[in-house]
Amino acid sequence: MPGAVLIFALCVFGSTLAVDRTLEPGAHGRDVVETVVYRIHRSRVFPDDRDFFRRVAYTESNFGDDPRTYRNGYYGGIWQFDGLKTTQHDGPYDVITPQLKSIHAAIKQRMGIDWMQVKKEDLLKPFYSGLAARIHIEQTRLSRGPIPDDIHGQDIYWKDWYHTHEMKYGDYERRAYELLEEDMRTAGGKLDMVMVVDGSASIGLSNFRSALASLARLVNIFDLQEANVGMVTYSDKVTSIIPLVNELNMTQLQAAIRQTRYPCSNTNTYAGMMAAIDEFKKLPGARKELGIPQLMVVFTDGEHNVEPDPGVSAVKAAEAGIITCSFGIGNSIHDDELLRIANNESDFKFNTNSYDTLTEQIVLIARRAKTVPQTPKMGSETEETLKEIGDKRYYRLGVPDNGTTIILINERGETRGYWTYSNERPSSAFYDGVITAGETFIPPPPQRVSSGEVRQRREAIQDPPKRDVMIALESFSTDSRVRMKIAAGDVTTSGATRVDVTCFVLATVLTFTVSLLK
Ligand SMILES: *[C@@H]1O[C@H](CO)[C@@H](O)[C@H](O)[C@H]1NC(C)=O
Ligand SMILES: *[C@@H]1O[C@H](CO)[C@@H](O)[C@H](O)[C@H]1NC(C)=O
Ligand SMILES: *[C@@H]1O[C@H](CO)[C@@H](O)[C@H](O)[C@H]1NC(C)=O
Repeated sequence: MPGAVLIFALCVFGSTLAVDRTLEPGAHGRDVVETVVYRIHRSRVFPDDRDFFRRVAYTESNFGDDPRTYRNGYYGGIWQFDGLKTTQHDGPYDVITPQLKSIHAAIKQRMGIDWMQVKKEDLLKPFYSGLAARIHIEQTRLSRGPIPDDIHGQDIYWKDWYHTHEMKYGDYERRAYELLEEDMRTAGGKLDMVMVVDGSASIGLSNFRSALASLARLVNIFDLQEANVGMVTYSDKVTSIIPLVNELNMTQLQAAIRQTRYPCSNTNTYAGMMAAIDEFKKLPGARKELGIPQLMVVFTDGEHNVEPDPGVSAVKAAEAGIITCSFGIGNSIHDDELLRIANNESDFKFNTNSYDTLTEQIVLIARRAKTVPQTPKMGSETEETLKEIGDKRYYRLGVPDNGTTIILINERGETRGYWTYSNERPSSAFYDGVITAGETFIPPPPQRVSSGEVRQRREAIQDPPKRDVMIALESFSTDSRVRMKIAAGDVTTSGATRVDVTCFVLATVLTFTVSLLK
């Protein structure tokens, strides 16, 4: 009985209903695309795409905001992809190659979608347009070779194999650079980050200098009023440190990074990581109390050749509450070692072909650093300044059995929020509930999730629902300042009874309707 399921879902989620705009035909915008990209990335059906997939959505339809995206009679959707048939059968006479079959099987297993049943109209839904385009890109990779790392190379790859009419060479490149500028924009946010930089002999001086220039560019995404940034350089041993707790302004920090001496010897990644852990220990206790994320990013071009294994220091970092992230440069570093450095979190493992492409691919770290959630405690209060419209802040909270109340006070401008228990990033495109100024009660995590597509997806792609709620705050005006208080239980003035009443009324209406129909 679908009605009963609906009521069940309503009761579980309180008076809110889950929203997933990636499954709404004709939906568009940055949040929609980011949700699709993140979900497909996390499903691990496809290998890493060097940000090509997202850039294609921006090039083809401006994330669907171009009014021609959903023109009459065209079903390509946000990715403007109209070759659905070729993603279902890739040979003549309805033949499906084993490679494509295994992609279909992975999609079925992790997303619960039978790709052979998908119709062209389905591609009006952003998630389906994205998935079709992503299959096509993977087919291209298998038949034509890997996706280039650099934007110029990607432009040619796109024109040759993805977009074959209307737009011209250079269109992708121009759009991708726009997106890169936006992603590298200073966005503020509370974070403590230590970059751990390999200075071994295999790199060479000019590459080392170019890496430092990329790092100097990366740190510019932070506002040093809110973030602490340090750097450890190592080779045989640690050779230079820019302390995490420092008094440098942005100009000085960037100069210190650029002027770092090239040590040019062995690769003792363990020593570099241990020195970074020591830097985190020097932070004032208050920052840890507030749950400000601690991120260690290790840039390396090769396997360690001085023991112990960097995996040992990664575990020590994790024990100290530090998130480790690895960035491999070139092809003499094994994925295994990068994965050990990232504590087996493949979401925190990146790589790029060379020091030349690092300049552009560093954006992956920028995007990750901006979305690492703060983990404030129950009963705490936090304050944020958001400079631009659309700036966001992320949080992860462990929710007690009686739920939690979020009190949002807009001191200046306007900030709102979204929350979800699923393992996705909440945004206007995907949420279980919204957070507006004043009090918002978030019920305790559901034991069982509601039916249908949502449940299937949640069980398939993401890990099972957790006790942690993910919250995103988003600014709707320039220069907003907001305070967020977090309390255990329902402390809203209207009280806890509201949800029960809603459920009771709905259940009564349903019973009544069903009896009428009989
Ligand atoms: C940083 O400090 C230096 C020295 O005090 C000063 O010359 C420079 O203008 C400052 N830069 C910024 C961006 O505030
Ligand atoms: C990472 O995975 C490897 C191999 O599966 C395992 O031996 C190791 O203990 C894991 N490390 C962590 C920190 O989970
Ligand atoms: C909610 O539960 C916590 C313990 O988990 C308790 O400290 C708090 O007082 C409760 N709040 C309400 C409003 O019931």
